[in-house]
Amino acid sequence: PGPGTAMRWLCAMLLMLPGAWGDCEQPPRFVFAEPPQPLRESYAVGTALRYTCRPGYTVAGGKSPLVTCLPNSTWMATPDFCIGKSCSPPVIMNSKVDYMTNLQFGATITYACNNGYRLVGKPSAQCVLKGNEVTWDHVPYCAPISCLPPPMIKNGQLINENTDFTFGMAVTYRCNNNSFSLIGDATIHCTANDNLQGIWSGPAPECKVVACKNPEVENGRRLSGFGTEHTYKNTVTFECNPGHLLNGSSVVTCEADSNWKPPLPTCDPIYCGPAPHFLFAELTTAVGDRSPVGTKLRYQCKPGYAAASGKSSLVICLSDTTWSADPDFCIRQQCTPPTIENGDVTADSFLFESVVTFTCHRGYELKGSSSAKCVASGNGVDWDTAPPYCESQLPRVLCKDPPTIDNGMHNGTKGTEFVYGSVVVYKCKDGFTLAGAASIHCKADHQYRGVWSEPTPELKTEASYLSLVGIFPLLLAILVMNV
Ligand SMILES: *[C@@H]1O[C@H](CO)[C@@H](O)[C@H](O)[C@H]1NC(C)=O
Ligand SMILES: *[C@@H]1O[C@H](CO)[C@@H](O)[C@H](O)[C@H]1NC(C)=O
Ligand SMILES: *[C@@H]1O[C@H](CO)[C@@H](O)[C@H](O)[C@H]1NC(C)=O
Ligand SMILES: *[C@@H]1O[C@H](CO)[C@@H](O)[C@H](O)[C@H]1NC(C)=O
Repeated sequence: PGPGTAMRWLCAMLLMLPGAWGDCEQPPRFVFAEPPQPLRESYAVGTALRYTCRPGYTVAGGKSPLVTCLPNSTWMATPDFCIGKSCSPPVIMNSKVDYMTNLQFGATITYACNNGYRLVGKPSAQCVLKGNEVTWDHVPYCAPISCLPPPMIKNGQLINENTDFTFGMAVTYRCNNNSFSLIGDATIHCTANDNLQGIWSGPAPECKVVACKNPEVENGRRLSGFGTEHTYKNTVTFECNPGHLLNGSSVVTCEADSNWKPPLPTCDPIYCGPAPHFLFAELTTAVGDRSPVGTKLRYQCKPGYAAASGKSSLVICLSDTTWSADPDFCIRQQCTPPTIENGDVTADSFLFESVVTFTCHRGYELKGSSSAKCVASGNGVDWDTAPPYCESQLPRVLCKDPPTIDNGMHNGTKGTEFVYGSVVVYKCKDGFTLAGAASIHCKADHQYRGVWSEPTPELKTEASYLSLVGIFPLLLAILVMNV
C-alpha cells in the first residue's frame, strides 16, 4: 500500500468522529432527484438539503424536496418527493387507446384503430424525455380500410353507382332482365381480412338462365308448383296416390344447374304380406305372398261354420300394409241337442266339434256309443253317431191276465202278456158304477215277478143293494135250517 492508501484510511478515521458527535455523512441518492452540489464530507445535525428533481421528474404535489440530518445521524426524506412528468393523453383520429397505468415518464401505451381502420406505424409508444420535457416517442395514425371496386358480372349490373368502397359499404347487383336468375347473394359488403385489408364479403352473384324440366312422378301428384315453367329456387311438392309410398323427398327445388334437388322422388306400390289364415274360413282362390294395397280377398266358411249375419267375408289390404277383416265372420254351427230316455246328456255346448256324453239312470245300461261329436255333414252339422239308448238291467217283468170282476170288463186282451207298466182300464156294465180307482197297472213284486197293482176296481150300485135286500129272507131261512 502506497502513501495514498494510508492517507485515505486516516481521513476515514477522522470522518467517523464527527458522526459520533451527531453529524450526518453523505446524503442519500435517489433516481428521481439529486442533492445540491458540491457534496461535503459531513453535515451538521439539523442541516436541510434542498434536492432538485432529475430531468423527466417534477416535485410531487404537497411534498417537500428537503432532506434533513437527524440527531441520531440519519437523513430523513419524504418518500417519492419527485414523480415522473406525465405525457399528454394521445389523440389519434379513429382510434382508441388503452392505458392501463398512468401516462408518466417511461409509461408505454398501445394504440388500436376503430373498426374499419388500419393502424399505420408501430402500435405502441413510450413517454420519453425530450429536452427537459416528456413526450410520446412515436405517434401512429389510423387509415380507413377500403375495398377494390366490386367485380362486374355478365347479364347483370350494380344498382348503386359509387366510386369509393370503404369498410362496411354494401353493393347490390341485379340481373338485366327476367330471363336471368340471380344466383348467390345479390348484396355483398366491404369487409376486412385478418391483415386488415379490404375484401368483399363474398363472390359477386351470377345472372344465369335457369330452367328445370317439368317434373313428373308416376303414381303421384303435385300439391304445389303446378306450372310448367320452373326457374331458380322454384319448388314443387309431391304426394303419392293411395297404396303408394314416397321414396325420396316430397319437396324438390330447381337449382342453378337447372336440375331438381334433391332428385325427384318415386311413388312405390306398397304391399300386404301373405293372406291371413282363419280357423273358420278359407280362401276361395290362391293368393301370392304379397298383395298391393286395396286388394280384396274373398273367403268362404269352412265345413262346420256358417257365415255370420251382418259380417263381410272380404279381407282387405289396408294402406298400413295390414289385412283388415270383420272379426269372426263365420260362426260355428250347432247340432240338434240329443235326448236319451232313462238317461242324461252332458255337454258344454252342441256346437260344431263339441262332444256330448250319455249316461243312463240307475238300473239301466247304456247301449251304443257313450259319446257323440258334432261334425260337419253335408252343408250343415250332425252327430257322428246315432244316439244310444238305456236298457233296463232288471229281468223282464210280465203280468198274467188281469183279474175279472162281475158285471165289469177291462180293455186287456185275454191271453196276451202284459209288460211292466202296462195299464188296463175297467168299465162297468149298464146299471153299475165303479167305486174307487178304475185302472190297475203291471208292477214287480220284491222278487221281480209281475203282479197287478191293488186294489182291484170294485162295483157298487143301488141295484146290487136292492137284490141283496130281496134275498135276505132266504139267507135267513138257510141259517135257521142249519141251526
Ligand atoms: C433516528 O431517529 C428517527 C426519528 O427520531 C427515527 O425515525 C430513526 O429510526 C432513527 N434511526 C436510527 C438508525 O436509529
Ligand atoms: C333479356 O336479354 C337477353 C340478352 O341480354 C335477350 O336475348 C332476351 O330477349 C331478353 N329477355 C327479355 C324478357 O327481355
Ligand atoms: C328408394 O329409391 C332408391 C333409389 O331409387 C333405392 O335405392 C331404395 O332402395 C328405395 N328405397 C325403398 C325403401 O324402396
Ligand atoms: C186300456 O185303455 C187305457 C186307456 O184308454 C190304455 O192306457 C191302456 O193301454 C189300454 N190297455 C190295453 C192292454 O190295451
